Amino acid sequence: MAVDIKRLAEHIGHQVTIEGWLYNRRDSGKIAFLVVRDGTGLCQCVVTSSPQTEAFFDHARRLGQETSLRVTGTVRADAKQVGGVELDVTGLEVVGESRDYPITPKPHGIEFLMKHRHLHFRSRRQWAILRVRATLVDEIRQFFNRNGFTLIDTPIFAPAAGEGSQTLFTVDYFGEPVYLAQTGQLYVETACMAFGKVYCFGPTFRAEKSKTRRHLTEFWMVEPEIAFADLDAVIAVAEDMTCSIVGRVLRDHRPELELLGRDVSALEQIRKPFYRITYTEAADILRSDRVRNLLDSDLAAKQARVAEVRKLITDHEAEVAATGTKQWKKDKLAAEIIELREELDELETEIRNIPHHMELAANFEWGKDLGGSDETIISRLHDRPVFVTHYPRAIKAFYMKKNAADGRLVNNFDMLAPQGYGEIIGGSQREEVLEDLLERMAEEKLNLKDYEWYLDLRRYGTVPHGGFGLGVERTLAWLCGLKHIRETIPFPRMMGKFYP
Ligand code: 4AD
Ligand code: MG
Repeated sequence: MAVDIKRLAEHIGHQVTIEGWLYNRRDSGKIAFLVVRDGTGLCQCVVTSSPQTEAFFDHARRLGQETSLRVTGTVRADAKQVGGVELDVTGLEVVGESRDYPITPKPHGIEFLMKHRHLHFRSRRQWAILRVRATLVDEIRQFFNRNGFTLIDTPIFAPAAGEGSQTLFTVDYFGEPVYLAQTGQLYVETACMAFGKVYCFGPTFRAEKSKTRRHLTEFWMVEPEIAFADLDAVIAVAEDMTCSIVGRVLRDHRPELELLGRDVSALEQIRKPFYRITYTEAADILRSDRVRNLLDSDLAAKQARVAEVRKLITDHEAEVAATGTKQWKKDKLAAEIIELREELDELETEIRNIPHHMELAANFEWGKDLGGSDETIISRLHDRPVFVTHYPRAIKAFYMKKNAADGRLVNNFDMLAPQGYGEIIGGSQREEVLEDLLERMAEEKLNLKDYEWYLDLRRYGTVPHGGFGLGVERTLAWLCGLKHIRETIPFPRMMGKFYP
């Protein structure tokens, strides 16, 4: 039976077989080096020209990238190699040929890579991200299971809006319109009255017409809901869950985080208590000089980088045009130019936006919702997650609990991840008083007929309760230190993008 590459160190001195794909290859005439990956790790396989390897040596030197292979050999310890071992090859079997694999080790540009997403995640970076994702999902489940929450699966076909009606996807359901779920919340609210503490975990859908680095139209959300809970109780769970996620990822994925270039020390600082400010305090921060200074220095740094990138592009282009530059070098430079141009585009967009973001922050009016750039600013001013609480009632979802001391506010929170990542959790205490709920639903012109089942909760033994939703992809972007959410899900769905 084949051995997983990650376990090869347990077989030093023994003959084993590994099964995988050719990741990279080079040779020096008499020796061919095949780097093979099998999903658990990478291993350098050394094929030396000898009577024993005669049958396949020449073939080995010409194998195409991503050829699938069965390689037999003796495991030898070698601290310099990935995984600390090498395989001295004695047998090689090609399982499936691969010719002209489209994604080579050179840079390609993100558009191209996303069109080849089905192959793209064979690359080390994508592999690392999606492994962290699997652990993140596992830790979320374990956290809730450990803490007495019952899993309740909620429907995806939903008769009514759970969040804003502007972001609903409509589906034809035997001639009647229904919506794809934006949230499972209303359903887990009903379930917490039966089970006490519950959670749902599944895909949710929002027709977000914004092409930002934070928005997907299909994303995964975990939503706990707790009976007999006030805002503080809900916040405590969000804090504990976040700590347990960060702890687990740091425990199990240091190599992946390092490969991704994540500053691990920033994650090591994540511990309780997180910061807590009110919406009103956040508004004051936005209008302060601190923010002006932060954005001024941003602008300067980005302009300096633009000059640097421009120079690099010019230098690269000159080298490509120069006589005497070898073809392989030209190809490499051309590929790098594609990436530099992408960076330049991004920087230029950011530089164009900074004055606008500054203006938005400086003129922030109490009563408006925090925008993406406002969240980024607040979150950059904190080194641990920050809970922003008590938003104006008028701009928030109908189900949020009216604040007892100040009826203009609700008992809600957004949890912003540090380092500019912004909101990864949104939650609240829910309105359990029927009259107050009906008042907000009327304001929102919701069709009560669609919500009778939801209102029943307030009729039969209503209790204070609350919960939150954590977005898996935004959380993963933060954990892995990724700029854009598109790499955090195997097959991203965004406005105008649904292939493959
Ligand atoms: O703040 P949101 O809209 O809250 C809810 O849906 C509540 N029903 C949750 C609850 O209280 N049970 O969304 C929660 C989280 C956000 O903080 C964000 O992480 C993620 O879901 N999210 C998105 N992620 C990717 N793309 C989008 N378009 C997202 N919209 C929300
Ligand atoms: Mg939100």
